[in-house]
Amino acid sequence: MCAEKILVTSALPYANGPIHLGHMVEYILTDIYCRFLRLTARDCIFCCADDTHGAPIEINARKLDISPEELIARYYSEHREDFERFHISFDSYYTTNSPENKAFSDLIFTRLKERGDIYKQVIELTFCPECKRFLPDRYVKGKCPKCGAEDQYGDNCEACNSTYNTTDLILPYCAICHSSPVRKESMHYFFSLSRYSILLKDWIIKNKNIQPEIRNYVLNWIESGLKDWDISRDEPYFGFKIAGEDTKYYYVWLDAPIGYMASCEHYCREKGLSFDDYWLNPQGSVRHFIGKDIIYFHFLFWPAMLMGSGFNLPDSIFVHGFLTIKGEKMSKSRGTFITARQYLDRYPASLLRFYYALNLTRSISDLDLDGQDFKEKINGELVGNISNLAYRSMTFLAKHFNSRLTVPASSDIVNTEQDKIRSIYNHYDSCHLRNAVKEILEIGDIGNKYFQDAEPWKNIKTDRVNTWRGLSLVIQMVRDLTVCLKPAIPDLCVEMEAQLGLKDLKWQDIGSSLEGHAIGQPRPLVQRIDAFDLIS
Ligand code: 2FM
Ligand code: ZN
Repeated sequence: MCAEKILVTSALPYANGPIHLGHMVEYILTDIYCRFLRLTARDCIFCCADDTHGAPIEINARKLDISPEELIARYYSEHREDFERFHISFDSYYTTNSPENKAFSDLIFTRLKERGDIYKQVIELTFCPECKRFLPDRYVKGKCPKCGAEDQYGDNCEACNSTYNTTDLILPYCAICHSSPVRKESMHYFFSLSRYSILLKDWIIKNKNIQPEIRNYVLNWIESGLKDWDISRDEPYFGFKIAGEDTKYYYVWLDAPIGYMASCEHYCREKGLSFDDYWLNPQGSVRHFIGKDIIYFHFLFWPAMLMGSGFNLPDSIFVHGFLTIKGEKMSKSRGTFITARQYLDRYPASLLRFYYALNLTRSISDLDLDGQDFKEKINGELVGNISNLAYRSMTFLAKHFNSRLTVPASSDIVNTEQDKIRSIYNHYDSCHLRNAVKEILEIGDIGNKYFQDAEPWKNIKTDRVNTWRGLSLVIQMVRDLTVCLKPAIPDLCVEMEAQLGLKDLKWQDIGSSLEGHAIGQPRPLVQRIDAFDLIS
């Protein structure tokens, strides 16, 4: 049996706005998972891309008087830079506006059409004669047909929560030019999602990696009947023209997930790897990470498209919750909308990585960023526990034992540590990051207590050998903690490795003997922070 070829993806961010701290939950989570896989010698690649198509990008480019290509190019470099500064270790960060994506979109569309899964139908839509365009849901406003609330969008009412079609709105107006739209017919392509109900249900029941709450959601949707999916859009649109059509485009949500494949194909070609190993062969394992707002696309449309076109289905789709700030949705008007750049210009990337890891579980409930709690966790745990243990043990060794380690003391804490490390492995493997980090911190607590109880500053005068052995035990624990923390705070761990006089530690180095090894120069790893002052 060949080793698994793992492809990990994060959802593709729209090339239509800056990366913010809400986005970062997913990229940090996925990055920690990929770094853990690499650390444990798994064959994994991490692929992503900018999601570049759709009406909003075309409309925004027009407003800015630039081409959509120019708009997406601007965001592409901004996004890449932000991700790099957050140490997100993509192997491939590509774009959906690529020749590979066009080719795969045409291939999948054509295969589905040949199987009879795609049909044409004339439908009535909302059209603005001034703008000369069909208006997507978010670009038509009017009175809610159910409760009469003013200024509601074309798809749902924020006042009474009801959903409807744009053509149902009372006194609709175009959100771009404010004139009155008309109804107009257009021929659209539909994908028969309903034909896949049984196959999808079977896949969801059998897939053991799906989080239970998600499984229930999706099975309920299938039970209540799947609606066919409109996969085409009229011009003007920024996207790929449908194979054989001149004025019709693939809906952005058709080619966006195909972007996972395109990014992978681009990388494989560049590195001489095989795309088929991931998407066609049995050892391929595709693992997606997504937010809870896009479950429907990833658990229904996407697997159905893959089933119909003969590609591997995802092995897992891990869903996470949203970021809230002090318990509320991020909001520009409340002053709680924080971009990646605003954060990075003020604090080190690793602090947020650590805080998110400490708060991410396997549930899809939201993750809260609270300034006071952030400060307490950074100062109390990262500085007070981990950094403190490393710095005080290493400075003592440097000062009194010429930086060199001896045979570590034997103690029960070694077994406790090894048990915890096994469980940390399992928590990382199942993406329960909070539990992984909590157990890492518990090891840190045990090490600090051991150091404190051993009182090396006193005992060195009477029992130099045992003091040295106890210290060597603690420093081996610091090395083990460094390995365990590498996925979460990689840059700080590189610094720790340098201080320990070690390099490129892997999971298998945990527990190995450092007898006779000389450490490097100890320095405090992280500074305390006075406050988290990005939330007004
Ligand atoms: O919701 C979003 O932000 C989309 N751009 C995610 C696309 S993920 C994938 F399907 F491409
Ligand atoms: Zn208009």
